[in-house]
Amino acid sequence: MRLDKFLCKSTELTRSEATVVILAGEVLVNGEVVTSASSQIHENNHITLDGEKLTARASRYIMLHKPAGTLSSNVDGDHPSVFNFIPLDNTCELHIAGRLDADTTGLLLITDDGRWSFNVFNPKYRCEKVYRVYLRDPVEGEICGEIALEIQNKFEHGLKLQGEDTLTLPAKLEFVSAKEVLLTITEGRYHQVKRMFACIGNRVNRLHREQVGKIRLDVDVGQWRYLTVDEITSIPHH
Ligand code: URA
Repeated sequence: MRLDKFLCKSTELTRSEATVVILAGEVLVNGEVVTSASSQIHENNHITLDGEKLTARASRYIMLHKPAGTLSSNVDGDHPSVFNFIPLDNTCELHIAGRLDADTTGLLLITDDGRWSFNVFNPKYRCEKVYRVYLRDPVEGEICGEIALEIQNKFEHGLKLQGEDTLTLPAKLEFVSAKEVLLTITEGRYHQVKRMFACIGNRVNRLHREQVGKIRLDVDVGQWRYLTVDEITSIPHH
């Protein structure tokens, strides 16, 4: 972790205030003055500010039921930021593990642990994301008809999204009805779900994320809670 980030995680200083005290030589790492804010440190290094030992706050892991019309971003834009729903201190330290489009609802994971969020969407770990998708056009014979099977096969074998060279990883499609499906994917490409359905000439009218790995959305819209230890450690971490 960068030294200035560690200072933010262990004091009430902002990033720019942390830089000032570092440049002023007030921060020691293992007894030596370090004046570069970007120096990499380990949390088990002995770090002091004005002689006081600093300890980083524990990482936070949160689920939020994202409402429609909110932005997966730390700042408000055309729509309000999802962080308005989380009245915690130091939310600037938090980031989103796998953004959702403004009109998408459902499970949003929020943390200050960069390695954890990287693993959630690292295709190497094949962490499953389950989306409930409401389609514009009904799929004929959705239970066991030929068209439905053909679409399921296409999703299973991988689709070539517009502007991309590689096929999508195998995805599972289950029909709830002709216009409602559950889609399980293990990657997080840009607008992936909408683009996958565009590939087969359909369109997503409404999109909702229900589950990421073993973490299942179970709070009401606009509500949040901390993840349990089991949920946190269910994300692969090698
Ligand atoms: N895929 C999309 O197209 N949009 C989302 O918000 C999430 C996945």
